[in-house]
Parts: sequence; structure tokens; C-alpha cells
Amino acid sequence: MNNIVGQPVSGTDYFERDIITRLIYRRLDSGSNLFMAAPRRVGKTSIMYHLRDNPKEGYAFIYLATESIDDAELYFKRLFDALLNSEVVSRKVKASEKSKGIFEVITDKVKKIGAFGVEIELQSKTEEKYSDIFLELMKKLDNEHVRIVMMIDEFPSTVENIHKKNGETAAVHFLKLNRTIRQESSGGIQFIYTGSIGLPAIVNRLNTPESINDLNQVEIPPLSPEDGKLFIEKLLNSAKVPYESTAIDYLLEKINWLMPFFIQLSVQELVDLYDQNKTKINSEVVDRAFDRICNRRNNTHFDSYYNRLRDAFSEEDYQLALEILNIIAERNKLSKETLFEQLQSKGEQRDINAVIESLEYDGYINLQDGHYTFNSPILQLWWNKYIRV
Ligand SMILES: Nc1ncnc2c1ncn2[C@@H]1O[C@H](COP(=O)(O)OP(=O)(O)OP(=O)(O)O)[C@@H](O)[C@H]1O
Ligand SMILES: [Mg+2]
Repeated sequence: MNNIVGQPVSGTDYFERDIITRLIYRRLDSGSNLFMAAPRRVGKTSIMYHLRDNPKEGYAFIYLATESIDDAELYFKRLFDALLNSEVVSRKVKASEKSKGIFEVITDKVKKIGAFGVEIELQSKTEEKYSDIFLELMKKLDNEHVRIVMMIDEFPSTVENIHKKNGETAAVHFLKLNRTIRQESSGGIQFIYTGSIGLPAIVNRLNTPESINDLNQVEIPPLSPEDGKLFIEKLLNSAKVPYESTAIDYLLEKINWLMPFFIQLSVQELVDLYDQNKTKINSEVVDRAFDRICNRRNNTHFDSYYNRLRDAFSEEDYQLALEILNIIAERNKLSKETLFEQLQSKGEQRDINAVIESLEYDGYINLQDGHYTFNSPILQLWWNKYIRV
């Protein structure tokens, strides 16, 4: 197992997350379409790679990242490109005459539009559109023999892009079109959407929460302490770094929010320290590693948490979100009442609750026993050092 810090992992570098895999299959088995709600860097893309590469019997997964797409028709064109080029189509075609017939008609129609060249192809008024043909496919295709799951990474960015380029009406229409397509489905194709900007925040801003209310929301929990320990030990063993068992428990406590990324970041530091000093990892080395993590050199990783706020909030809410995070980072732990008092004493008139909820939902902070804290002490350290200045 290699310690990959930053990029999505696949193959033997992936640490199995059984709970989430089982949860996703349970939902898919029941015919749901899913939205993986999760903040940055919790492993969404890696989970989807894992599903794609190790499908359960009867499933085929297609992964598609759509962050650069800014047009509804282009979106469906890309879906067709990915689908029609995948081996699952030939599996379905071989398995049943009915599927064969469906795909022949669909492929023919898609090819016909494709013959016009991109511009005409996307705006085509006379011919059928890609979205029409996709709807037709969804209506006809059933899940006999194999279910196709299209995993759309960065879907919320596509909605934002369409919004920016073609306006609010176009974005709302796109969301509703996707909902229609899901609702008309005969079950042959299901969707998992995800992205590093929260979809609920975007649809709320567009005043169309109903456009995604059919999606089943799946949350990605951190690793359990047992799994966290196993993951750390695997990474250290692979790197041939010796450690005291108590140091691992100490590290787990310090990381606290056991998302693979924060574990990898810490282990990377431990391995570097071992390489320099050849000291068996103990609590003292763990402390040193922690100090080093918040060194500037790692800040591209943390910057994404900071920058993401700009995309996730309106300008005014963004300022309030920063203020809230600054207060919690500084105080470490503070009661809900104190936080509200502090914000109101600064004359804050905005909907404080809504912004706090967003921050909780996006994985920055949590409320426990009436007190707010950062989820990740590592992020908190970095925040205090570089953002709250
Ligand atoms: N199951 C896992 N096993 C090992 N490493 C993992 C696992 N899940 C995530 N990671 C690590 O966490 C980091 C983030 O993973 P990934 O890119 O999959 O997350 P993401 O949620 O898609 O992030 P983003 O919001 O930036 O798109 C990477 O460094 C990756 O190596
Ligand atoms: Mg990702």
C-alpha cells in the first residue's frame, strides 16, 4: 500500500471502507439514485473508483467527471460517450434481445446528431436532442442481468457552470430535466452524484429544492478508530517504519476526525521524520510531525477547504462563514450561545443558523454536547496559523 497524499487512490492503495460500500449497495439495490454528500477530501472519488473497479455481481459502474461541462446538451452527449463506449453495453446487448434492440435504436440516433458537428449538434432544433434520446433510453432500459450505475463526479459544478453561462432559468431547467430522466427510468440506469460543492446549497440558491428531493443522500463517515489504526499500521509497515503501539493511539487521538486524507498526511510526515532521524515513532515524534504538517508546504491541501467557502456561499454569507470559523478556531471549543452572542455583538444580522448548518454539513465543524469544535484539529491548527490573522 502506497501512501498517496492528494490524488484519488485505486487498487491496492485503497483502504477498504466496508460500511460505506455496503450502504451504497443497499440503496442501489432498492432502486434509489444517490447523492454522496461530503466535504472536500473525504474520499468520494476514491470510493467511486473502487466501485467501478470492483463491482458486485450484477452491477456495472461508469465514472464520469463533469466539472468542465457548462451546457445541458453537452452533458448528455458526454453521458452517451461514456455509456456507449463502455463494455457494459455489449454485456447487456449479449444478454437480451430486448436490450439489443434498444441500444441499436439509441446508438443510431446519437450517431445521427453527432454527424452535424458540435455547434449545430448541441443547438439542434429540428433533430432530436441528446437529452431527448437519453430520456428515451431511460424509459426503455430495465435492470435485467445488469444494472448500470452512472457516477457523476462534480455534478454541482456543472449546474453552477450552466447557471453562470446561461442564467438561472437554464440551470433550473437542467436540474429538472435530470429529475424527469430519473423518474421516468425503468431501472436500467441509476445515478450517483457527488461533488466538492454541496448540491443542496446550490439548489436552494436557485430556489428549486424539489429538483433533487428524489435523491437519496448518503453521508460518508470517518473511519472507525479500529480501521484508522489498521490503516496507519498498514501505511507505516509498507514504508518499513517502526513504531510504538501507544504512538498510534496517540496519533489517532490527535487526528480525531479519521478521514483517510488526514491520516495519510500525518503518516507522510512520520515517514519523513523517520527517514531523517531513524527514531522509532513515539508520542514525541507524533507531536513533531503535527507541528510540521501545518508548515506552509502543505497548504495547497488545506487551501481547498478555505477556497471552497467562496464557491459554497454568497459573498455576504462567505464573510460570516469566515468569521464563524475564525471564532471557533481561536476558542477551540465554545457553546452555541457564546458563539451567537459573539456574532450578534458584532452586529451580525444575517441568518447565522443557516450558515452554521452549512458549515456543519460541509464537514468543517460539529456540535457536540452543545459545543462547537472543528472536525479536524489539523485543519484548525492550520486555520489559526494562516487564515485567522
Ligand atoms: N479509502 C481510501 N484509502 C486510501 N486513501 C484514501 C481513501 N479515500 C481517500 N483517500 C485519500 O484521501 C485523499 C482524498 O481522496 P479523494 O480525492 O478520493 O477525495 P474527494 O472527496 O474526491 O476529494 P475532493 O473533494 O478534493 O474531490 C487522497 O489523498 C486519497 O488518497
Ligand atoms: Mg473528488
